[in-house]
Order: sequence, then structure tokens, then C-alpha cells
Amino acid sequence: MSAATPVLAPNDLESYWMPFTANRAFKKRPRMVQGAKDMHYIRADGTKVLDATAGLWCCNAGHGRQPIVEAIQAQAAELDYAPNFQFAHPKVFALAAKVAAMAPADLDHVFFCGSGSEAVDSALKIALAYWNVTGKGQKTRLIGRERGYHGVGFGGISVGGIVNSRKFFGTLLAGVDHLPTTYNRAEQAYTKGEPDFGAHLADELERIVTLHDASTVAAVIVEPMAGSTGVLPPPKGYLQKLRAICDKHGILLIFDEVISGFGRLGFGFAAERYGVVPDMICFAKGVTSGAVPMGGVIVRKPIFDAFMKGDDHVIELFHGYTYSGHPLAAAAGLATLELYKEEGLFERAKALEGVWADAIFDKIKGLPNVVDIRTLGLVAAVDLTPIEGKVSLRGYQAMEHAFHEEDMMVRYTGDTIALTPPLVISESQIGEIADKLARTINAVA
Ligand SMILES: Cc1ncc(COP(=O)(O)O)c(C=O)c1O
Repeated sequence: MSAATPVLAPNDLESYWMPFTANRAFKKRPRMVQGAKDMHYIRADGTKVLDATAGLWCCNAGHGRQPIVEAIQAQAAELDYAPNFQFAHPKVFALAAKVAAMAPADLDHVFFCGSGSEAVDSALKIALAYWNVTGKGQKTRLIGRERGYHGVGFGGISVGGIVNSRKFFGTLLAGVDHLPTTYNRAEQAYTKGEPDFGAHLADELERIVTLHDASTVAAVIVEPMAGSTGVLPPPKGYLQKLRAICDKHGILLIFDEVISGFGRLGFGFAAERYGVVPDMICFAKGVTSGAVPMGGVIVRKPIFDAFMKGDDHVIELFHGYTYSGHPLAAAAGLATLELYKEEGLFERAKALEGVWADAIFDKIKGLPNVVDIRTLGLVAAVDLTPIEGKVSLRGYQAMEHAFHEEDMMVRYTGDTIALTPPLVISESQIGEIADKLARTINAVA
């Protein structure tokens, strides 16, 4: 090519390599939004799109909420950035105290990072380091679960159980094992809330621990409700059993609450809903209602205390991120938690759980290709039969149809449609989501 040859991009969407997206299909018919307010996204032409996914399961307080917007604006003007390595700023301490106060029992120290993936990697690293500093450095094995999603870091995909998130990326972390998924359609189809079947699947942990010996096992990590892999509520009693087995063998239990935290299941954390106290909780998303990236790990007091030994001037944990405790995220987090409290949004999610489940079941069960519906808190999933030989095409078509023809944003994974609206949703908007989804499912039949 000579220097004079003009470089022509096919179109100006070309340069951006979109994450977790069918790039070529998107660029042929983009699904673009330009603004957002409360329960809606807004396209460039002013038309509104009903947000049935709280962005990516994160905008729990709805969009463009004034107190959050103002907190971010004021923070940017006052302090744009401050390092959190050896220095800090006041708001991050205030936020840590508030998050710790929300968590049950002695989960009372908070490590901040920038995303859910970083939260998971941080928790796994804290678990390994904890055993090291307590003289049990041979405890290195990590146990995740089939159909678990823990973000996209190497730690997260290693303990995660989504085939496509793993198979392209080499050998992953060594020394990882997996519990079986808790989902069994034959036994659980069309359950509202936690299914009766499946608590016994926690006993598989005993088998895995027997195989490796407890002296080599550091931690078990699970989502209380598997979210991204298609909304799989925990069977009744399952999480309690996992806790008991971990206690029996001296293994740390980590709850990945990146989705289930901050009101999604009607409580601050799912740990509270199930009365199970894990050793660490990973969080992200809802902590700032998605407005500024932030994640973190809440740890129990004995874990934190185990690191606070030796000379005062020595760094206790060699881990952290440039954006750990970012001032804009801390300001957004404080405003968000205040808004959740003022508007009683967690309680609202709990109060609406039954209305939500009934609306989805009443309008969707029996429609063409529908083979299961699951609901929990303000979450729902609808499984559709795949088009023969084209797994995930029907799911894709439903997402596309919903956006262009029904003005509604939904998520799909495989041929499962997932719904997770902001917690500010009204009862009539619940009905609207169910109606729009029903028409969409008929359209892609
Ligand atoms: C349970 C869980 N863990 C971790 C993550 C990763 O979060 P992020 O995309 O912020 O890295 C997600 C994202 O959906 C998630 O659902």
C-alpha cells in the first residue's frame, strides 16, 4: 500500500472489538442506546427501551438516579483519583464500613477492586495466602462448580464451569476440581423459588475432599444462585450442607455474590436469605448500581486478623489494583447504598417476588418451545428448545426481536432468556415485561 492510499474503514463501528458479542451480526444491525432514565434506555431517536436486565444485572437502583449522578459529579470535581497503595481518601473507608455493616456475622473487612472478575481472583488469592500465613501452605486446591460463572480472569474461568469460557484458554489453573451443577430439569422444571430436589448434590463435596484429602483443599467457591449460566436457584438446604462440609474439613467457603448481592434476591446478600455465613463474599455490580466500575471481597475477621502479624511497616498482602477504592466508585457506592436504604429497594424486591414469579409463569408457561421457567427474587429465566443444529440461535433471535420490535432489553445465554430488572420496577412494568416476552417467544417460534 502506498502512503497516498486512503485507509477506508468499512464503517465507523469497525474498530471496537465488542466483548461477549457476535460482532459481525451486531454491526449489521446495531442495538445502540444513547441515554437512560429510571427503567428505560433511550435510543438516539428518543424512543425508549424497557430495561429488563438492569444493564448487566447491575443497575439495581434504575438509571440516571440523581443522588448517584450528583455524587459522581461532585467527587470528580473534588478528587479525581487517589492511590490506595500506602495512601487513601476518606470515602473509601466510609464505604467499607457500610458494606461490612450490611454483611452478616463477622464478615467485617472489605478489600476493593474494579470488577467482579477481580473480586473473584482477589478472593481466591486471599484464600491461598490465608493458608500460607497460618502455616498450612499445602492447602492449595480450589473447588468450583459446573455451570458456575465467576468472571473472566484466569482464576475465575478455572473455578468456573462454562465450557466456552474455558476451552479456548489453555490449561487454566492447576489443582482445581468442580462440584456437579445443581440443575436437573426432570426433577426441577417450573419451580418458583428454590427447588426441593438437589440438596444431596452438596454431598459430592465429601467425595471430592476424600479424593484430594482435606489437607490439600483451600476453598470452595459458588454463586448462591448461578446467574449468568441461566439462573439456577439453589436447592433447599444445599448451601447449608456445603457450609457444614466445609466446617467439618476446615475449608473456606466463598460466596460469589456479584449478581445476588445488593437486593437482587430481596436481601443485602443471599447469605442472609439462606442464613449461611460464608468466609468471604465477592461483590461488584450493584454496589454502585453499575454507575462506576467497582468490585470487592468481604472477609471474616479471623481471616483478616491472620494477616495482621509481624512488623508494622511490612505490607501484609501483596495484592491490589490501581483502581482499588477509586474515589468516583467510592462516592457512587455511598450514594447508591443510601438510595437503596431510603427507598427500601431490597424490601421492595422481596415484596415483589411473588407478583414477578406469577406474572412470568402466567404469561409464558405453555408458549411454543418453552421447556422450563425459573424465578428467584427479581430474577427469571425461560429455557427455549434450540433450533435443530443451531444452539443459541433462538436465544439470539429472541434478544434481537425484543430490542427492535418490542423495545425491551433482555439477556440470553444459549437458548435461555434471562430477566433481571432494576429493583425500582412497578407492578405494571412487570406485566409489560411478561407481555413483551410472550410476544417475542411467539415471534421466534
Ligand atoms: C457471579 C459473577 N461473578 C463474577 C462476574 C464477573 O464480573 P465482571 O464482569 O464485573 O468482571 C459476574 C458477571 O456477570 C458474575 O455474574
